[in-house]
Amino acid sequence: MREKLLEVKELKVGFQNKKNYTTILNGVDFSVEKGETLCIVGESGCGKSLTSLSIMGLLPEKGNIGEGEIIFNGEDLTKKNQKQLSKIRGNEISMIFQEPMTSLNPVHTIGRQVSESVRLHRKLGKKEAETKAIEMLRLVGIPSPEQRIHNYPHELSGGMRQRVMIAMALSCDPKLLIADEPTTALDVTIQAQILELMASLKQEMDMSIVMITHDLGVVSEIADKVIVMYAGKIVEYSEMRSLFDKPLHPYTIGLLESIPKLNEDQMELPVIQGSVPDPNQMPQGCRFATRCPFARSTCLKDAPPSVENGDNHYVSCWQYTDQWDSIAKEEKLNDDSGSYELPAATGS
Ligand SMILES: Nc1ncnc2c1ncn2[C@@H]1O[C@H](COP(=O)(O)OP(=O)(O)OP(=O)(O)O)[C@@H](O)[C@H]1O
Ligand SMILES: [Mg+2]
Repeated sequence: MREKLLEVKELKVGFQNKKNYTTILNGVDFSVEKGETLCIVGESGCGKSLTSLSIMGLLPEKGNIGEGEIIFNGEDLTKKNQKQLSKIRGNEISMIFQEPMTSLNPVHTIGRQVSESVRLHRKLGKKEAETKAIEMLRLVGIPSPEQRIHNYPHELSGGMRQRVMIAMALSCDPKLLIADEPTTALDVTIQAQILELMASLKQEMDMSIVMITHDLGVVSEIADKVIVMYAGKIVEYSEMRSLFDKPLHPYTIGLLESIPKLNEDQMELPVIQGSVPDPNQMPQGCRFATRCPFARSTCLKDAPPSVENGDNHYVSCWQYTDQWDSIAKEEKLNDDSGSYELPAATGS
């Protein structure tokens, strides 16, 4: 096993409103090894971005870490103050976001922005920083970077802007790159190029990547390991191949079933019934029970433990525990067991 770079232990994150405290992440546990790409998948609102913002120390106002540890390179980031965190952010952990236009400054040329980012991290003079910026832009596949440095962000395509963001994120030579839906706003061919670029840069720079996406296609392209999140918890964790070959959690299976298959004439795709529960009204047991075709009354009462089912493949579902046979004899909750509601035809 390779050395662990990041360990997130029993992380709880919530928001303090006027009247009450709402817990969103409820005991998130995972680790990232050196040189590994970990993908976090799950529907909108399940807590993917909050997980990455917690690592970065960039939670939104009123949000806070209630419990847990975030061990990066042997140090607990939850114990650091903002000044220490900002040093780590600038030097060892970098982040890229979904929409590069909002992260780039529209009034400065990209050359200036990449150079400044380079100067922030390396003790270089102006001219040397510009040379380095050109080198970084070439590294991320920007053609004729000597000319491109004079362009403003709006003069670049979305894919090119995302490459500039990657160049800036890499300028500090980070040990960990966190990418939150970096290709969602891009069309598929550009998305494929960016993913390829990230994979090759990872090799070259020997860094780890945490990639957040709701797209299982992206996962299959880039991941070594995968975390499936549902309503603020991890429901399944495994090697990428194992997740696609033998998905275990009913939620993961639902997500995989809703991917269009190229060789089948699928007019209608199955979707997972229902919606994610309100964070203030979470079932006390398994959070997926209200939507699960296999749910029994135990599932609503008690949260399932995480169990290993196959090599390094973990799942939080009563079905995979020794108790399931006796639980299965209990009253079933969802009568339409095993079936997923089909959405209306798309009109074609
Ligand atoms: N600033 C905030 N104030 C209060 N609650 C918040 C705030 N930001 C997020 N939340 C809560 O945390 C939940 C998880 O948010 P998060 O942004 O992590 O979801 P996500 O998995 O990244 O979703 P998406 O795929 O849409 O980006 C949200 O559904 C919301 O209930
Ligand atoms: Mg998000």
